[in-house]
Amino acid sequence: MRVVRTVAQLREALEYMRQGGHTPIGFVPTMGYLHEGHASLLRRAGEMSSTVVMSIFVNPLQFGPNEDFASYPRDEVRDLELAEREGADIVFIPSVEEMYPQPIRTKVSVSSLTTQLCGASRPGHFDGVTTVVSKLFNIVQPDYAFFGLKDAQQVAVLRRMVSDLNMNVEIIACPIVRENDGLALSSRNVYLSAQERSQALVLSRSLQSVRQAMEEGKVRTVDDARNLLVSVISSSPLAVIDYAEILTFPELETLDGSSLLTDADGEIIMALAVKFGRTRLIDNNVFIPKEAHALV
Ligand code: PAF
Repeated sequence: MRVVRTVAQLREALEYMRQGGHTPIGFVPTMGYLHEGHASLLRRAGEMSSTVVMSIFVNPLQFGPNEDFASYPRDEVRDLELAEREGADIVFIPSVEEMYPQPIRTKVSVSSLTTQLCGASRPGHFDGVTTVVSKLFNIVQPDYAFFGLKDAQQVAVLRRMVSDLNMNVEIIACPIVRENDGLALSSRNVYLSAQERSQALVLSRSLQSVRQAMEEGKVRTVDDARNLLVSVISSSPLAVIDYAEILTFPELETLDGSSLLTDADGEIIMALAVKFGRTRLIDNNVFIPKEAHALV
């Protein structure tokens, strides 16, 4: 596994792989502090690609002024061990100066899909994501790029960006990876106290409760489902709901509250963002109500 820190070194390493016929190239962009969710992306990338590139870059552009950019967890040594174990061929770890050598005046921005859910709570976040991912795609020029569905809105936004801008890369969305007790893996879980962590289980529990109530015919409308989500989450005294929404996926359009879930054509998303102390966690479930089976 090769570790490179500059764009020039990365381009050289990729050129070498391409000339040796080691294509297709799979790319796993990350912000580091890797966990089993990232490991699953690397494994999927390895199944589909001859060269696996991972980037580790905590991107300042996607953090708001009062967010956790400075304190975002970092552990390069452990990250490199995981990357090597899971089959990465090249790991790109640029500095902020390498990625942004001058104040950036160009922004990639996807409209509409970025105004709700995390886009509403974190203004500018998705512009930061789409801008850095565009830069990374331009540098790596991967055939495939792998993203976890825990950030389902990010997947929807990036797919739209790739389609709108004719980028020559296929976005591969990979399932959410959970702890045995249901907590979705996140680098930010490390912030949780023991009490917050145990209460955070209401996220996955609320999603499961709606799915089960739907199957039992106890939840039929969009409002019923939203109310159940909110009531399960509210049973945890430490939970402060940022949003609990049910939207179409991947268009992220609002559904009429009184409409039947089974009337929705195609996929819908139940999406949650909930704060426990200073930690904001997200979780979701994407599924086709007509078929009532989970896609993730
Ligand atoms: O999902 C993430 O970790 C980040 O948003 C990404 C895609 C690496 C861009 O910084």
